[in-house]
Amino acid sequence: MANIIVPPGWRIPEREATPEPVFWNRKAFLRTLGLGAAAVATSGCGSSFTPLEPPTGGPGDGCNAHPPSHPLQTICPTANEDLYPPARDDRFELDRPLTDRIEAATYNNFYEFIGRMNEPNRIWDLTGPFRVRPWSVEIAGEVENPGHFDVEDLEREFGLEERLYRLRCVEAWAIAVPWAGFPLSKLIEKVKPLSTAQYVRFVSFDRPEQAVGQAIEGWYPWPYYEALRMDEAMNELTMVATGVYGEPLPKQHGAPLRIVAPWKYGFKSPKSVHRIEFLVDRPSIFWSDVEPDEYGFYSIVNPDVPHPRWSQGMEEMLGTGERRQTLLFNGYGEWVADLYNPELLTFRS
Ligand code: MTE
Repeated sequence: MANIIVPPGWRIPEREATPEPVFWNRKAFLRTLGLGAAAVATSGCGSSFTPLEPPTGGPGDGCNAHPPSHPLQTICPTANEDLYPPARDDRFELDRPLTDRIEAATYNNFYEFIGRMNEPNRIWDLTGPFRVRPWSVEIAGEVENPGHFDVEDLEREFGLEERLYRLRCVEAWAIAVPWAGFPLSKLIEKVKPLSTAQYVRFVSFDRPEQAVGQAIEGWYPWPYYEALRMDEAMNELTMVATGVYGEPLPKQHGAPLRIVAPWKYGFKSPKSVHRIEFLVDRPSIFWSDVEPDEYGFYSIVNPDVPHPRWSQGMEEMLGTGERRQTLLFNGYGEWVADLYNPELLTFRS
């Protein structure tokens, strides 16, 4: 598998890369046409799209309708409805307006659902066959209490809180959203890592019959995997998100649970996590294995360390198109700066 890697559109070879100004213009052009968000996914432009594979997850309705008729139809009912919307933790203030909910739900990165057009604004449309309830997370490796833990039980046990966080994608777009969830540290304390555990690895699901991207892009090393150092995982900022905008996560945001580490590029926040492993040695991560020249294990948001093909100095907010200066640590330095040796910040580590 490793020798037939066909990277997605934005990981094209240097010689074919769109210069950054063209990238910005393309986005502006799409907006001018009204092709932001849902319009693209459902409009008559469909005829110019390559037909997708037929749905493989069988017929569905409700949150499993395929295709869903609305980007938020992908929210599956939960037994914990009474926990939503959770009370806000006011320690986490934003320096910008929240991203419009529909904009955030219609421009996503979730390669498990990327169709033949590689379009981030079609992810939601393809998640119908994906079943997110019931869902348990397996805890394994260097822990006293391994096992399978039901997501709704965890939500009930730890309670939920809302936090307003920025998310900065490595592709230079950003959102500001109200996640609902609990600190990852609560789960870690519950399962009691052994003193040998230095890293935490997150593994997503492997269901090509439910996820068109896994079915048609078999050259990727599925399932998606990411990892944090133990002190990063225990940091107060690191969340297990089970909801957003006061409701359970829509599938395209990573239902039923995802990790959120807001000081790192978005790919360090894995979606739809199925297994969490506690490890002695540093594991590899999905995108570093696919594209070793990209960012590495730490992948801290840093405006001064460019991507090999574009600057990271600026970011564009989804929805408004506002361009902002990118902040070191995505603005979360007061929480995390002391975790890192300054040398780590000077290259794509
Ligand atoms: N998690 C999985 N399982 N698969 C993915 O492709 N993409 C990542 C991250 N988590 C990804 C993932 C990237 S690149 C980004 S920027 C964020 O999800 C985007 O989160 P959002 O779509 O909820 O805004």
